[in-house]
Amino acid sequence: MMIQPAKRMAVFEEAIFGQLKQRASDVQASGRPVVDLSLGSPDLPTLDIVRETLSEKSLHPEQYGYTLGGIDRFNEAVARYYDRTTGVTLDPSTEVLQTMGSQEGLVHLPLAFCDPGDVVLTTNPAYVAYEAGIRLAGAEPYEMPLLKENDFLPDFDDVPEDVARRAKLLILNLPGNPVPANPTESFFKRAIAFAKAHDIVILHDAAYSEFYYTDERPIGFLQVEGAKDVGLETNSLSKSFSLAGARIAYFVGNAEAIRIMKQLKSNLDYGVFSPIQEAAIVALDHAEQMTDRLRDVFKERHTVLRNGLASLGWDVAPSTGGMFLWARYPSDETSVDFAFRAIDEAGVVMVPGTTFGTAGEGYVRVALVQDVDRLRQAIEQLSVL
Ligand SMILES: Cc1ncc(COP(=O)(O)O)c(C=O)c1O
Repeated sequence: MMIQPAKRMAVFEEAIFGQLKQRASDVQASGRPVVDLSLGSPDLPTLDIVRETLSEKSLHPEQYGYTLGGIDRFNEAVARYYDRTTGVTLDPSTEVLQTMGSQEGLVHLPLAFCDPGDVVLTTNPAYVAYEAGIRLAGAEPYEMPLLKENDFLPDFDDVPEDVARRAKLLILNLPGNPVPANPTESFFKRAIAFAKAHDIVILHDAAYSEFYYTDERPIGFLQVEGAKDVGLETNSLSKSFSLAGARIAYFVGNAEAIRIMKQLKSNLDYGVFSPIQEAAIVALDHAEQMTDRLRDVFKERHTVLRNGLASLGWDVAPSTGGMFLWARYPSDETSVDFAFRAIDEAGVVMVPGTTFGTAGEGYVRVALVQDVDRLRQAIEQLSVL
């Protein structure tokens, strides 16, 4: 029997990460040291009390049932965390939705809001899951370029009127992956005004909200006037709390949009394992213990890597937050050729910019996921290129 994929599979290409990993293992097998700065997988351990909670709760047989939409106390912990960190008030019963990682919610989001042929405004480059969700829903992405001359922020004035009229969703991500542009009140205000003028739902992906290296916490999307009228924010326990494998995250914001997503989700899954939710509640209630340390560690890495790449003549996009650097390397090769040559000749693994969209040509994404000694070693190894 011939097993044929559905036609829609044509839009889902094999991700490049496997090929990078394979090339890195080949180089390592030949005895050369490899520094892997490719995946945004957090390397700091989560808090002891979080692991203890998960372990202790897992011992109880009654913890193993379906949890459906999740434990109410999780939504309450999210509301407390938002109140403490941003001053935003959320109603836990109507304005919070738990998801199995933010990826799960992001990929399903367009299904809840878009019919085939509707437009979703996204950026180029952008985090790859957005396009997967848009394609699954049969919607069309319209990519707003992130250009150096616009501080790597999208320009809504450049969106053609007919596209704006067909758009149902606008996806933003600050500080972003792969481009770590900084969130500002004036940018969010422009986005909200644009969304209101065209009846577009905004989804702000705040996966890296705790990764900032300024004295003051940058403004959160929901802190901006009018945000809840048009929008949602997703945030995750993966990055800020080093719980990527636990698969727990949430969407917050506009109650009607949350209701629509809840309705879709009730048909898709039966909820996250209860001990993981209990551990996440503890993490949210002790957030500062984790995130203060995270910022200390990542701030130093950010400085070391930025300065190191600049000393090699690389043009690094300005940033004061995020888990990645977005760097233009000093050569004319394509980003794919350069990334593979960097593994072969320097033993440093980075992600080619075009993985995230055509506007990534000439760039690589470099993740701050190794300690400063390894980052210094990476810079030294890259100096041979
Ligand atoms: C911008 C962004 N959003 C969402 C995610 C997904 O994170 P998770 O599904 O672990 O919550 C990632 C992971 O790399 C990301 O970079």
